[in-house]
Parts: sequence; structure tokens; C-alpha cells
Amino acid sequence: MIENKILTEIKKLTSAIIETSSNLNEIKKNLDKIHNHFKNITEISGFDFKVEYLAAIPAEKGKALGLNYAAQCLLDYKRTEKFLKAIILAIKEKQKDNPGEIINIFYAGCGPYAPFITLVAPFFNSNEIQFCLLDINKTSLESAKKLINSLELSNYVKEFYLADAVTFKIPNPDTFHILISETLDALLFRESYVPIIFNLLPQFPKNITLIPENVCLNLNLLSNFEKSSKCTEYKIETILNVQEALLSRKHNLAIPSQLSDKKINLSTLKIDHSKSVLLDTRVHIYKDIWLNRNESSLTIPVEIELKEPSENNFIVFTYFLTPNIELRYRFE
Ligand SMILES: C[S@@+](CC[C@H](N)C(=O)[O-])C[C@H]1O[C@@H](n2cnc3c(N)ncnc32)[C@H](O)[C@@H]1O
Repeated sequence: MIENKILTEIKKLTSAIIETSSNLNEIKKNLDKIHNHFKNITEISGFDFKVEYLAAIPAEKGKALGLNYAAQCLLDYKRTEKFLKAIILAIKEKQKDNPGEIINIFYAGCGPYAPFITLVAPFFNSNEIQFCLLDINKTSLESAKKLINSLELSNYVKEFYLADAVTFKIPNPDTFHILISETLDALLFRESYVPIIFNLLPQFPKNITLIPENVCLNLNLLSNFEKSSKCTEYKIETILNVQEALLSRKHNLAIPSQLSDKKINLSTLKIDHSKSVLLDTRVHIYKDIWLNRNESSLTIPVEIELKEPSENNFIVFTYFLTPNIELRYRFE
């Protein structure tokens, strides 16, 4: 039974977001209203001009984005809508599979608004779901605590951890059912999703549900690029599949400083000025819920210039985890 007036309104707004199938305007309007409440309670808007809110925070591998940008994620409308739908669905499915059990959720990278608890918890009782929250950013974690207390949701939280998810050792990992870590950027650039998954996932039971469950970087060829009305596209190759990279990793080894090279034969592509090559980030959130191209800042494609590769037969992609997290390519 929800008695907190603001929480009642937030639940109503969230219900409309997860029930609306394609009305983006409605979703925007409701998330903006939720943002207004969160801003008033936390005194963090995501657009505050404070140097410490802008600075990225170095993790063991990669960087956590600054607090302003973490707050703004709430307003990445399609992303938030799809993640909320996925998380609520995943919890319901875990309940079906584990009748009578409390569903324990580890939320790595909660940000200042912790939307995947503050917007999700009202749909369940605290004797049905329990969360552990972690963030590397002290101000984010304090803000999430303040918001959770103010919305009277603290009975849904077991622990708050101020820690780096790339190195964190989880207490009692066997008790968890779901791991959430939206620590992504387009092309898996800079943020720590890959090392976080490499560190956390093997600690949990095998049947843990990970959200997002996978991310792939695909290389696509666009033909007739200049006459865009007849532009055709096909996938050349997957450059990086995070789940496959994780599976191919030898057990108990330290997180590598780079992943295996991916070499693409350019001569077969017959590149000329009518063709273009795109790198696409495919975010598989859960089951049939995907974040499609350009639906979110996470899925903006990046064009690669392949001018005159005449003396180069190959393009080689490498995903680096140190010194910075980034996908680089070279011609050979
Ligand atoms: C993209 S934001 C998402 C925030 C929030 N979950 C949401 O969906 O709006 C990612 C959050 O993860 C945190 N983060 C990134 N890398 C981290 C790491 N290595 N350890 C702990 N937290 C991290 C950042 O500080 C940030 O708050």
C-alpha cells in the first residue's frame, strides 16, 4: 500500500510509460514530470553548473560519466522506457520461476536518481524484491539514498555500496537473481560495462539475469549511400559481442587490457564513393526488448571513412580496456 503522495504520482506516471507502446510524446511528458520531482527532492537537475558534477570519475578500467550526465540518462526517453519494461518483466519471470522467494537485484551504477529501483519498486512489495545499490560516485550514491528515503522506499534496499564495480567482490553472490548495469555508451566507449560484466557476472549463479543481457558492435555496409532513397544496408560482421568475449575468457584470469583483434577483408567489399561503412551499437536489453538504432544516445551509429583502401587489404578492430576504454581500428 503506497501512502507517499509523490510516490503515488510517480507510480501513475511510470504505469503510463510502461503501458504506452509507442507514444513517445506521452513517455516524454511523464518522464519530464518524474524528473521534476526527482530534481526537487535531490536538488540535482542534471544541468547544474558545478565542475564536480561534470567530471568523469576514473575506475580501475574506464571512466564513470560525470554526475550531470548520469542524471540526464533518465531523460534518454526510449532507453528508460525499455529498461523499465525489461526490468519489471524480468522480475515477474523470476517470481514465476522462484515462487515465494524474494527476488534479489544487484544494481551496479545507480546514478543520482536510481530509476531502476525508484520507478520499479512501487510495482512490488518490499517482501517480494530487494535491491543492493552500488555507484563509484559518492554524490550519486548520496543522492540516490536521499531520494529513496524521501519516497519511503528504503525498506526495498539491503545495502548501498560506494565502490568500483570493476573490482568489487560481491558479498553472498549466490542470493541474487538479477544484475542491472547500464554503464554503457555508444560503441562501448569509455564507460566500464565490459570490465564490470567481466568482474561481476562470474561471481553470480549461472542463471542470473543480466540487464542489458548483451551488447554487440556490428559493422554494416551501406550501398548507394549518396542516393539515400535507394540505400541498401547489410551487415558485414560483428566486431564485438560482449557475451562471446566473456565466454571465451579463461577462468580466474585478470581482466585483459584488450580483446582479440577482429580483421575484416576490405577487398571483398569493393569500397568506392557510393558506399559507406557504419559501426552500430546493438543493445539487447532483455528477451525481445532491444534498443534500436538512434532510439537512444547509446545506439547512435558512427560512420567510418574508408577512403582509398587500395594498398590496405584489411581493417583491424581492437577493443582496448586500458589505458582507455575504446574501440580502435587500423589498416593493414
Ligand atoms: C549511464 S549512468 C546510469 C545511471 C542510472 N542507472 C540510470 O539508468 O539513469 C551510469 C552510472 O554508473 C556509474 N558507474 C559507471 N562506472 C562505474 C563503475 N566502474 N563502478 C561503479 N559505478 C559506475 C556512474 O557513476 C553512473 O552513475
